[in-house]
Amino acid sequence: MGKPVIILGISAFYHDSAAALVMDGVIVAAAQEERFTRVRHDAAFPMGAITYVLAEAGVRLEDLTAIAFYDKPFLKFERLLETYHAVAPAGLKSFLRAIPVWLKDKLFAKRLIRGKLATLGKVRVPILFSEHHLAHAASAFYPSPFGEAAILTVDGVGEWTTTSIGKGTGASIQFLKELHFPHSLGLLYSAFTFYLGFKVNSGEYKVMGLAPYGQPQSKQTQLFKQRIEEELVDIRPDGSFLLNLDYFRFASDLQMTDDARWETLFGIPRRQPESELTQTHQNLALAIQEVTNEIMVKLAATARQLTGCRKLVLAGGVALNCVANSKIVGAGLFDEVWIQPAAGDAGGALGAALAAYYLNEAAPRRIPARPDALQGAYLGPAFSEQRIRSALLKADLAFDYVPDTEQLLTLTASRLAEGAVVGWFQGRMEFGPRALGNRSILADSANPAIQQRLNRKIKFRESFRPFAPSVREEDAPDYFTWQAASPYMLFVAPVAEHRRKPVPPAETGASLTERLAGIRSDVPAVTHLDYSARLQTVSRATNPLFYDLLTAFEKATGRGVLVNTSFNVRGEPIVCTPEDALRCFSQTDMDYLVVGNFLLDKQAQSAATLAWMKQQRRELILD
Ligand SMILES: [Fe+2]
Repeated sequence: MGKPVIILGISAFYHDSAAALVMDGVIVAAAQEERFTRVRHDAAFPMGAITYVLAEAGVRLEDLTAIAFYDKPFLKFERLLETYHAVAPAGLKSFLRAIPVWLKDKLFAKRLIRGKLATLGKVRVPILFSEHHLAHAASAFYPSPFGEAAILTVDGVGEWTTTSIGKGTGASIQFLKELHFPHSLGLLYSAFTFYLGFKVNSGEYKVMGLAPYGQPQSKQTQLFKQRIEEELVDIRPDGSFLLNLDYFRFASDLQMTDDARWETLFGIPRRQPESELTQTHQNLALAIQEVTNEIMVKLAATARQLTGCRKLVLAGGVALNCVANSKIVGAGLFDEVWIQPAAGDAGGALGAALAAYYLNEAAPRRIPARPDALQGAYLGPAFSEQRIRSALLKADLAFDYVPDTEQLLTLTASRLAEGAVVGWFQGRMEFGPRALGNRSILADSANPAIQQRLNRKIKFRESFRPFAPSVREEDAPDYFTWQAASPYMLFVAPVAEHRRKPVPPAETGASLTERLAGIRSDVPAVTHLDYSARLQTVSRATNPLFYDLLTAFEKATGRGVLVNTSFNVRGEPIVCTPEDALRCFSQTDMDYLVVGNFLLDKQAQSAATLAWMKQQRRELILD
């Protein structure tokens, strides 16, 4: 046997920095930096993630074959210069702010990477730079179970590219069509995110979650759509589009929209963050969601036409828009659609490593066995029983050790059936923005009070979005009108007709949370206003423990659907270590915490500990 080909993939310096390690084509580990530094969407050089992936693989820096970075800094620099030049002098403000950072850091990425890694050892291996959309495309195609597939990548912007259509065949990727900056669906959606008063690069989910409150048939929604398509974006039949730059400021300034022009166009001012969300805002969210759906379906149709493939893979930040993804599936253009769960820039680390392996090392590709090569996206750190025990002892919390796993599952299921909220910390952490049953907070989806309780006492937010359901793969058709697997929570599915309940129309003036509170189905905590649910299907092959917990819950209640929300509080990344989980357990009103085979009951803690926990919570809310 020869020396293994080991490639470290890195994405950094924009948002969602991450590292991934690929050994002889096998994805050994991948994680986002935010989980280690506890800074959400951390863009810093991912030292924590790199240290982890090397340790997980048991290799040192010197053992690597190559390091692959997820974009080409020179191309990006050229794009910045040309954009600033094209819009000068309007771009001067952001030019002055952005350029010094580029000259100091990004342009000299090679030197920078070597310097940053110096504490881990000397980098003697080549540092390769993949084009940004190649990294996205590779992250979607190579781990998919397809030998041949159409590839669609859609995001804000890479170097120049904002959208690409390609074809993957065996180990090769060929690009067939590209759209370039500033014409970007990601930036268009982000502009609406911004105008609706949410944070760009993280509030996009909120716009998608707000859209179902919009009135599809109303004159206002129709007018908004018309204005978007007539004034903001010129959509061609093949899904390509041109943005009308008179309305956008991202090429010339640090703000997304020309507020004065938008105000004239839509008749409403930009919404102030945290202020009331009116019916008009809801209709605007629905309008941009529908336009996004239309563009995505048209792009997918073009991908089908150009490649002739019956399978599609997707990546890029826009591929996290599960509503648009479901429209692509619903259009029936493809037999199967596979989406990279870390579709945003974190996944670029994995894509860059895979691209380096297959394209630079010219390795042949073995088509991954089903479901895919990602192992359920459980690619992050796991912690030994000993480590968990020592964390518990250090924290001085009361716990039970339940060595018999079956007993642990039965116990957990019966607590959930009683209405408890349970923190569930098991095995390896997920890669990508979703918790998929290893760093999750779980509850009974049939409990009508759970939505409010989770929001107020555990997540410390007032959300108008329902929670996501997890269901065993074979039970999914009983609850949802959905045939395909949805292991990564990247599709929305309608709740099955026989599970629905009619809801009387909300009283005028009712808030969004009041409107959501109606019991729409047998699983109200996960049913959105339009009867959709952001579904995770769980198979025994990828997560036996979580699957068995769903089975135990089904046995206890006759219901097979659990609320699955990420294990974190507002503003924090998902927990990574047992210590993070214990802190979150202490700071919230979570009833139970299961970490490995240890079970913690909030009520069993000493009076002093409970008082201390209450104090923690107050500090958290005041933060
Ligand atoms: Fe990207």
